[in-house]
Amino acid sequence: MPKRWTNDLNWSDVTPRADFMNRRQIMAGAGALAIGAIAAPALAAIETVESRYSTDETPNTLEEISSYNNFYEFGTGKGDPAKNAGALTTDPWSVAIDGLVDKPGNYGLGDILSGVTMEERIYRLRCVEAWSMVVPWVGFELATLLNRVGVQPSAKYVYFETLVRPEEMPGQRYPMLEWPYREGLRLDEAMHPLTILATGLYGEELPNQNGAPLRLVVPWKYGFKSIKSIVRISLVEEQPQATWNMLIPNEYGFYSNVNPEVDHPRWSQASERKIGGGLFSAKVPTRMFNGYADEVAGLYAGMDLAKYY
Ligand code: MTE
Repeated sequence: MPKRWTNDLNWSDVTPRADFMNRRQIMAGAGALAIGAIAAPALAAIETVESRYSTDETPNTLEEISSYNNFYEFGTGKGDPAKNAGALTTDPWSVAIDGLVDKPGNYGLGDILSGVTMEERIYRLRCVEAWSMVVPWVGFELATLLNRVGVQPSAKYVYFETLVRPEEMPGQRYPMLEWPYREGLRLDEAMHPLTILATGLYGEELPNQNGAPLRLVVPWKYGFKSIKSIVRISLVEEQPQATWNMLIPNEYGFYSNVNPEVDHPRWSQASERKIGGGLFSAKVPTRMFNGYADEVAGLYAGMDLAKYY
């Protein structure tokens, strides 16, 4: 079992990925020899921390997670992102953090990660659209970053934008969506510990098609809220624009909480098909808030979820 631990290492101290995989194997070997308890600091540095929110359900394979995607910047087919996203340059990368914050600025990815005082955290979370997957994300709480930049009291929402770079994002040469892709969360949703910024999956950097180098994951909401390849995070007072809500407001609301009781105007949202269960696998009932009701239902106490869909 991974154990919870802390030290003063930063993400910037993380071992490069090839070494990481090797050392993991060494760790596994060390464990087998029952000398894990005296692991050297270099080995300890890659010990993983499992989120308390991780599910016990079996994760989907890397192949499944990285070959069936929605990322319209690279095309509208589920296979297009895997085919076309390889050309995206993700290093260097910076994120503008602005609006109602104490320390606005352009933050390099390394800088963002150096503010996260643990080297790696694994979240095995369910994600749901009409289909569902369990993904072992590597990430950290969005709240950690927001607290670091200092959210001002007047901020009520967080707004996110994806990169616009048509030279590398062929889908952006067409007005399928109004670019940039944008999303928003209410501040309390954004500060919830289940809301993470993911930088990897399966202990590796994020594949580009999954939103490298930094994407949002909000597991109790439909997948489209989980915006990829983020370059702007703004703290704002008014409810911000969100891509699908702008495009088809009667079908996609701002909240987009997973809710089997509220149908999409054109289809039922009561069940989902699990990716990896085989092409003709039976659908399974979708759970309220995607199974995270105990954690997040309180955020919506007293709200009419048929109205605020
Ligand atoms: N982010 C951007 N920038 N562009 C997109 O088209 N698609 C969304 C979301 N984030 C999308 C995006 C949708 S509809 C889904 S279901 C998820 O990404 C899919 O994430 P995955 O491919 O990692 O499973």
